[in-house]
Amino acid sequence: MSNVSERLAALSPSETLAMSQKSNELKAKGVDVINLSVGEPDFNTPEHIKQAAKEAVDRNFSFYSPVPGYPALRQAICEKLQRENGLSYSPDQIVCSNGAKQAVCNVLLAVVSRGDEVIIPAPYWVSYPEMVTLADGHSVIVPAGIEQDFKITPAQLEAAITPRSKAFILCSPSNPTGSVYSREELEALASVLAKHPQIIIISDEIYEHINYLGAHQSIAQFSSLRDRVVVVNGVSKGYAMTGWRIGWIAAPKWIASACNTLQGQYTSGPCSVAQKAAEAAYTGDQSCVEEMRCAFERRRNLVVELISRIPGLKLNEPHGAFYIFPDCSHYFGKSYKGMSIRNSSDLAMYLLEEAHVACVAGAAFGAPDCIRMSYATSDENLKKAFERMVTALANLS
Ligand SMILES: Cc1ncc(COP(=O)(O)O)c(C=O)c1O
Repeated sequence: MSNVSERLAALSPSETLAMSQKSNELKAKGVDVINLSVGEPDFNTPEHIKQAAKEAVDRNFSFYSPVPGYPALRQAICEKLQRENGLSYSPDQIVCSNGAKQAVCNVLLAVVSRGDEVIIPAPYWVSYPEMVTLADGHSVIVPAGIEQDFKITPAQLEAAITPRSKAFILCSPSNPTGSVYSREELEALASVLAKHPQIIIISDEIYEHINYLGAHQSIAQFSSLRDRVVVVNGVSKGYAMTGWRIGWIAAPKWIASACNTLQGQYTSGPCSVAQKAAEAAYTGDQSCVEEMRCAFERRRNLVVELISRIPGLKLNEPHGAFYIFPDCSHYFGKSYKGMSIRNSSDLAMYLLEEAHVACVAGAAFGAPDCIRMSYATSDENLKKAFERMVTALANLS
């Protein structure tokens, strides 16, 4: 008999991980599944970063690190923030964690008290509302549809704010939509937030380096918010290092200190060898980042072209990350061979079974009319996946 805590009973398992698992199960049975459900680059970690990790093993970086990470890594992160973002931080404002995932969760656990409200624009990354639940907070979802490029307006943000608002989570470039807020759009949101000094802004910038608009823009650049923005970032996506599990925050000292206390009792510092690899990522040659970004941009152009051949899927052109998030509601109410499509979960299941293409239904991201497809895979796989989807979707009537 299951007897989990109330806290755990309120949590949902990650739908993106579940879809990946389902597709792996089919693959294990010999089915040729093309997996567009994954949220990670398909590139190997660059050689010089792997080399640094091998050296760290030989140099016996095998002991506990300081809880917020080695001073050298935190210094390298401060230099990265200055060099790439024009933001000035000191190492005591940086806390390194087991991926950006733990970094976001740490901040929520550190600032949210029971009943506090956390404003989350939808579509959102699946874990945000679950983490808010874990922190005993209440998610206030602000919907932004495809007609507004999945980005909230300042008026929507203003309308969502109440005296209980404690935090606002912004993700740009966005998972799952690929939308990117411009400097002007961020400035307009910052003007609203400037009037509400109790709100902590959690700016998830994990897709910073996968951006097709040019220079990355951070909401931390606006001085009116500077003492309450927490930048979340890490090496997972930009350096093809998802498995190494290094993410971090750059935060006001009181938040960094709170996360340090939390992490000190919970997980301690992240893996010592992975920290040395992350340090090499930030201090070494950056050309690998641009090479991978270019490959993603080429694939973005390819999938935008391929999807235009499926008139039933409505797309906003993504400007960052490696996902497309088409509206698939055209197919709701249709069926084929006794399989009825009532929603995007049915469509994801239909595409898996009929086309052997794995995608993730939009409901998990707060956008039930949409479906997420990742283009972090080869051109050949993408072409094959779209060919199969064209046929399977044409069969629905
Ligand atoms: C928006 C967003 N934030 C954070 C993360 C977590 O990244 P990490 O692998 O560094 O924990 C992900 C990973 O999918 C993500 O998509």
